Amino acid sequence: MSRYGREVILGVSGGISAYKSCELLRRLQDIGLDLTVIPTQNALRFVGQATWEALSGKKALTDLWAETELVSHIKLAKKSRALIVAPATANFIAKVASGIADDLLTTVFLASDAPKILVPAMHPEMWVNPVTVANVEKLRNFGVLVVEPDIGRMTGEDIGVGRYPEVPRLVDEISKHLDLNSDYSGKRVVVSAGGTREYIDPVRYIGNRSSGKQGIAVAQAALNRGAEVVLIGANIEVSPQKGLKFISANTADEMFTELLREVKNSDLLVMAAAVADAKPEKKSDTKIKKSEFRTIDLVENRDILAELASCKAVANVMIGFAAETSGDITKEATRKLIDKQLDFIYVNDVANGEIFGSDKTSGSIVSKEGHIEEIVDWDKVTLAHLLLDKALDKLG
Ligand code: CTP
Repeated sequence: MSRYGREVILGVSGGISAYKSCELLRRLQDIGLDLTVIPTQNALRFVGQATWEALSGKKALTDLWAETELVSHIKLAKKSRALIVAPATANFIAKVASGIADDLLTTVFLASDAPKILVPAMHPEMWVNPVTVANVEKLRNFGVLVVEPDIGRMTGEDIGVGRYPEVPRLVDEISKHLDLNSDYSGKRVVVSAGGTREYIDPVRYIGNRSSGKQGIAVAQAALNRGAEVVLIGANIEVSPQKGLKFISANTADEMFTELLREVKNSDLLVMAAAVADAKPEKKSDTKIKKSEFRTIDLVENRDILAELASCKAVANVMIGFAAETSGDITKEATRKLIDKQLDFIYVNDVANGEIFGSDKTSGSIVSKEGHIEEIVDWDKVTLAHLLLDKALDKLG
């Protein structure tokens, strides 16, 4: 079973620090993880189901007996990149160390062979109790990562070891353990994003509705994973960041020139920009008066991807995007994938226009080998990571 996906289960057991897992969930989403929360019944006494569902954007799975689709949850656990339980109480640790499976979370824990991470949080007396020490050691010997709790003030007056760790340290340890933030180090990734504008005169242009969000998400995800990133943006703005080279290219011709210069010797090109297919034959230097503004003669723009391929200006892995509104969209995407010599193409159905400017996306990833993977209502950041995972798999 592949372990490079972005789906992760966040189990929450019943400790007062359960509220800190709301922040953990958010920060894990920031690094592109797609979380499903399984709170225990006791965890729900501290943070309610509605909060988990609002934060994760998904149904929180709460009860072994209420879950008629238990098999599908076990399947989810099997394909998940990891299973994180935070906070993990002494009771939860004791149960899973003994192989007890008496609720949904412990059942999923026992049934899954995904990497497991426990974030203990409990009173110092419980943490140093020899039973807990032995349970933790047993789980560590089974390969479970048990994060060291922080030292400090507990609920009430107590001070000692057992505090829920600070979230940035947790995110760091989780990323390292799952090898999330360095797998692109030493790699050069070129991304195009935004929509080109083809000028009619100094004030008017032919443009499109691309917001650039998907391409920016890919660039950010690659940066977070250690890549050197060149982002060639058409009519978008991004904040400067270490490791990011931003080049503004607002028309199709400018974009081609910049890509030609940047794409050679790259490991990956992600061509997310929406390139106008045609431009005015002649751009007027002055604003055309309305009395003369009747027809525009257009000439076809070059097909940037096809032309880069014919100039041998290609990266080791090439990913394109397609937006379709009608017909057999995967068939049309496959045709583009072949014509433009791509390894993958992500096609979205934009018939209702909802995708533009949205943080969510639905579509299909089509591979050169003919595999089709459907994406339903994913965060664009999560899709970005999945595309990077697939490209990395090819890069070897
Ligand atoms: N593309 C390109 N040069 C163009 C047009 C598109 O490189 N002149 C790239 C896009 O960045 C995208 C892929 O080709 O990665 C598919 O874009 P799309 O607009 O769906 O395809 P077109 O070839 O323009 O086909 P059509 O507009 O007829 O659907």
